[in-house]
Amino acid sequence: MKYISMIPPLAVGDIIRGRADGARPAIDAGTLPFRYGRDALRVGLDLFGIGTGDEVLVPAVICEVVLDAFSQRGARLGYYGLSDSLAVEVEEIEARIGPETKAIYVNHALGRPMQIKPLRALCNRRGVVLIEDCAHALGGATDDCSVGVLADFSIYSYRKFFALPDGGGLHVQQSARRHTRLPKRAGLPRQVAGAGKLFALGLASSIGLPSAAWRERSKRLALSEVGGAGDLPSAEVQCRMSAISEWLLSRADMNEMVSRRRQNFAYCLDKVRSLASVEPLFKELSSGQVPYSFPVLVDDRDSIVRRAAAEAILLEPTFAPVDRRRKGLINPEERFDSLDAIAGKLLSVPVHQGLSPADLDRVFDVLRHGVNDRSGG
Ligand SMILES: Cc1ncc(COP(=O)(O)O)c(C=O)c1O
Repeated sequence: MKYISMIPPLAVGDIIRGRADGARPAIDAGTLPFRYGRDALRVGLDLFGIGTGDEVLVPAVICEVVLDAFSQRGARLGYYGLSDSLAVEVEEIEARIGPETKAIYVNHALGRPMQIKPLRALCNRRGVVLIEDCAHALGGATDDCSVGVLADFSIYSYRKFFALPDGGGLHVQQSARRHTRLPKRAGLPRQVAGAGKLFALGLASSIGLPSAAWRERSKRLALSEVGGAGDLPSAEVQCRMSAISEWLLSRADMNEMVSRRRQNFAYCLDKVRSLASVEPLFKELSSGQVPYSFPVLVDDRDSIVRRAAAEAILLEPTFAPVDRRRKGLINPEERFDSLDAIAGKLLSVPVHQGLSPADLDRVFDVLRHGVNDRSGG
C-alpha cells in the first residue's frame, strides 16, 4: 500500500534531469535559505526590531509555530478575524490598527493568494511593517502581483511544496538583505537524518512498504496530527537550509509543481461535487493559485483522519482553533466562533505533484466512507 501524505515523494528521475535552462527557479535571488519558515520569521523579526512589548496583529487562526516566534520575542499579539474562506479583509485589519501597532502579519492560507496591494497601501499610510506568510503559497500570484514581493519581509516553506528534508526562505528588500547574515546549518548528523527520513518517505510513497508496519506508522502520524502534536518543535536556534535541500531545491521544477497541483485541485473540485456532506473551502481555483492542498470541511473530522490513517493516507487537520491561552494576547476574550468552527472541521486533502487521479480516488473513497458512516449511509 502506498503512503499518501502532504509532501511529494522524492522523484529521482526529476532530480537527475534537473531544472531546464532558463526555467523559473524555486528560490529567487532575493530570498535567503533557512531551515524552516519559522527560522526565517525569527530572523525577519530581529531584522525589523520587532520584539518586547511591540503590538502585532495576527490572524486568529494561524499555525502555532508562527505565534511562537512572536511570543519568544515578547511581542503582544492582537488577533483579527478572517472571512469564511480564511481570507484577510483589509477593513477588518484597518479597524484594529492603533498607535501601538508595529506590524501586521498576513497569511495566504492554504495557497489562496490574496490581494496584497491594498494591504501594502494601508501599511504605508499607517507606518506599519507588513509581514507576508507565503508558507502555503509558493509560486502564487494575484492578477498583477506575485505573492511575497511587496511586504517588508515574507517567509516561505519550500519543504511543503517539494520533497526536501527541510527548507524555508526569507525574502527582504535588497537594502535590508545586506544586513542579514545567514546562520550556520544544523550539524551533519541532523542533515543526514533528515535526508534519510525523506528517502524512506519516498520509498513508502512510490513503492509502498509492508502494509502492517506502515499502517501502524501512518496511524501514529495521523493521530499525532489530531492531537495537535504533529509538527516540529519551535526550536529557538536559527539555522540555514541544509546542503542537500539547497541542492535539491536548485534542481526543482516549479512549472511542473504548479501545473500538477492545479490539475489535482481541479480534479478534487470535480470529485467533491458527488459528496454532499463534504464542503470545499474554496469553490473554485483562482488564476494565480498554487494550491497547498484541497481544503474541505467535514463533520467529525477527527474520525475521518483516523480512518484515512488506517489506509496509509495522512489528511492534515491544518489549523487548530483560536489559541486563547497564549501569554501576551491583547484580545484573549474576543470570540471568533466562525473561525473556531472552520478550524474544527477543516481537512487538507493532499494535491501534490506526486499524486495521480487514482491516488486522489483513493483519498475520496475514504472521505466518502467516512461521511456515509456518520450519516448512517
Ligand atoms: C501558515 C504557516 N506559516 C508558517 C509555517 C512555518 O513553516 P515551517 O514549518 O517551514 O517552519 C507553517 C507551518 O508549519 C504554516 O502552516
